Amino acid sequence: MAQDQKLIDKGPFAVAILAAIAVAFAVLGVTLTSYMKGPDIREDAELRASIEDRIRPFGRVKLPGEELAPGELQVDEMPQADPVATLLTGPQVFNEACIACHGTGIGGAPTLEDSATWEPRIAQGMNTLYLHALEGYTGSAGYMPPKGARLDLSDQEISDAVDYMLSQVTN
Ligand code: HEC
Repeated sequence: MAQDQKLIDKGPFAVAILAAIAVAFAVLGVTLTSYMKGPDIREDAELRASIEDRIRPFGRVKLPGEELAPGELQVDEMPQADPVATLLTGPQVFNEACIACHGTGIGGAPTLEDSATWEPRIAQGMNTLYLHALEGYTGSAGYMPPKGARLDLSDQEISDAVDYMLSQVTN
């Protein structure tokens, strides 16, 4: 009983201590938050200017009547790099677009080893072979899709591939 009485006596004191701790944490929290937030660019004009300077676009289009800023360079024409040759060679086209069928004979495609089936084809003349490769062809062996289904390739690239294929047909 005496113990209980002791606790009751100390009650207000304990509450006061807890309240003081709570206030101390609140103050600490507010102080830390404002400390960690860093400077506010809306208020710090110098900081804002330095950030804007760093994220400024590399170049801009100067409109008629506009003045150049001090130190700004004017380039009348963007330098253009020479375009590199984009045409694929016959062997490259064959490896990319034709080998899937003509390398293995899938779907009846004549392979490069199969010289016997090439003979009557070659006898049609080169123009017919080019045309069949370009526009597609369905014969007795199967279906040859237009440009080997690579419509992004140019006519020149396809006919170069035909030339390459015929040069590789083993006799
Ligand atoms: C999806 C399979 C397939 C692909 C890919 C393919 N071919 Fe063919 N090709 C065939 C088939 C099948 C034939 C035989 C058609 C027939 O005679 O019935 C053929 C036939 C040909 C012929 C002979 C045509 C004739 O008149 O006899 C040529 C030339 C040819 N292909 C070129 C090419 C070239 C060049 C490519 C790559 C750009 C290519 N092919 C890609 C399936 C293919």
